[in-house]
Amino acid sequence: MQGAKIAVGGKGGVGKTTVCAVWAQLFAQDGLDVLAIDADPNTNLALAFGIPSEQSPMPLIQMKELIAERTGSGRDAVGAYFRLNPNVSDLPEEYWLKVGKVKLLVLGAITQAGSGCACPEGAFLKALLTHTILQRQELVLVDLAAGVESMGRASVQGIDALVLIVEPGGRSIETANNLAKMARELGIKNVAVIANKITERSQEDLIRSELKDVALLGILPYSPSVQQADLQRASVMKADAQFMAQLQKAKDVLTDLIDSTIGSEVDV
Ligand SMILES: Nc1ncnc2c1ncn2[C@@H]1O[C@H](COP(=O)(O)OP(=O)(O)OP(=O)(O)O)[C@@H](O)[C@H]1O
Ligand SMILES: [Mg+2]
Repeated sequence: MQGAKIAVGGKGGVGKTTVCAVWAQLFAQDGLDVLAIDADPNTNLALAFGIPSEQSPMPLIQMKELIAERTGSGRDAVGAYFRLNPNVSDLPEEYWLKVGKVKLLVLGAITQAGSGCACPEGAFLKALLTHTILQRQELVLVDLAAGVESMGRASVQGIDALVLIVEPGGRSIETANNLAKMARELGIKNVAVIANKITERSQEDLIRSELKDVALLGILPYSPSVQQADLQRASVMKADAQFMAQLQKAKDVLTDLIDSTIGSEVDV
């Protein structure tokens, strides 16, 4: 599993950040070297680790001078030429925050509507994600922006698994099915789902029946304690032992799934 690259996506508010924060810490407890990346324009992965917002790192996307320097674009040079492949390989070490054993890199994302941005910020973000996915040795977990836009930019090409979170709601299932389709078109081998915020068995059955060709990694209960941890800006890790146990199981299923595809690549 060391070196595996995992992205977590889905509709807004389904639990992407919660799952990323917990898994990052669980993988680190297993002894893996973990790099967690917040790639949502509304960066709040650090909060899920229990880090107060005033101590949360500034998202790299907001570092205008750094982006101008790396892409060779002046601050005022709107529409001017810029490097599409800026060198960013030194940046993770420089900007990550160590949270226990986890390295947390707050990237952010572009907020303008529409997919793709032919701008220095877009090139910078894409270069950083591509670098971390293709070059780094850590287990990388990417907390994606809500919806299908993040996939439209194809910045997660090369990941080993896309994990989609769904809640008991038709719109989140639709989003997951759309994302799964895009992921397959991009050649992503493992697309899996976690059902979150489940309150009764019938919801689980419905989600199973409506998901198309994706592995179900686990079922997480709706947990008032998890909700409360967010309200109190506390780490989600200590909120609910049963919730954690289910996520631990889901993580192990994902590990087997990824290991089996990596194994089959070696055999060929
Ligand atoms: N199983 C659960 N039970 C109760 N509350 C939950 C559960 N999972 C997540 N939540 C709560 O739902 C809210 C949204 O969760 P989270 O921020 O992880 O979702 P997200 O998909 O990252 O959202 P966004 O699209 O805004 O980034 C939070 O308040 C979180 O505490
Ligand atoms: Mg989130």
